[in-house]
Amino acid sequence: MSTHPDPSSLPPAPPGAAHATPNVPPVPALKPPAHMAALVRDWPTYFARVEGEPPRQTLLDACAAFGATAGLAADLGAGDGRDTQAMLERGWRVIAFEPHPEGRSRLAARPLCQAALRDGRLELRSDDFDAMRLPALDLVNASFSLPFCPPRLWAGVWARVRASIRPGGRFAGQLFGDRDSWSTLEDRVHLTRAEVLDCFADFVLEHLREEDRPSKYEGEGHKHWHVFHLVARKR
Ligand SMILES: C[S@@+](CC[C@H](N)C(=O)[O-])C[C@H]1O[C@@H](n2cnc3c(N)ncnc32)[C@H](O)[C@@H]1O
Repeated sequence: MSTHPDPSSLPPAPPGAAHATPNVPPVPALKPPAHMAALVRDWPTYFARVEGEPPRQTLLDACAAFGATAGLAADLGAGDGRDTQAMLERGWRVIAFEPHPEGRSRLAARPLCQAALRDGRLELRSDDFDAMRLPALDLVNASFSLPFCPPRLWAGVWARVRASIRPGGRFAGQLFGDRDSWSTLEDRVHLTRAEVLDCFADFVLEHLREEDRPSKYEGEGHKHWHVFHLVARKR
């Protein structure tokens, strides 16, 4: 994951690079890496592992692409609020969707989020991807969350995400690829590169980094990452 302790220690792959395999020897994990909690959807453990980590680079790149403009954003699967906070800091109004109560309480405990909940700049909703209804949005951020959508719901969920983004608005986030170790799991969404490109047929892809490499961990923590990091502007 881009700002996750595992992939973040690696140099960025060139844009569009496939099959990038940096020459990093595997290391034993001192404590189970966050992705092991994500593997089994143990979100409280995941949130504890990533506590204090900075906003995702895709979100920062998308905000930067808007320049001084800040509008209405949604943060899908907002987790502990690392990206929600960053959007508020940049003047955005945010609707944060997080179905897990532990995520919502961590998000709401952030001082800036508390203040924004009070003054109405932040709305915090518990809807999952299926239940969420999205207004017209300038930015949809979904950092490492949409792959956890049940596959049978994916087409409808993506259609609603896509429709909610205004012309000139942006999507930021990650989708998982078909060469990822987790693609054999039946409860999450893994797409081929062609399928990812098809999702963004009515967008300009401003940033696409395809991570396709073994993790740095050996043993239980090892996996192959195939992740698309995306910032895209709706035509
Ligand atoms: C790997 S975490 C990412 C959290 C945060 N966006 C981040 O970047 O740290 C995945 C998030 O997706 C949420 N999630 C999982 N399944 C979901 C679903 N069906 N609908 C909405 N959110 C879901 C989890 O509660 C969790 O917060």
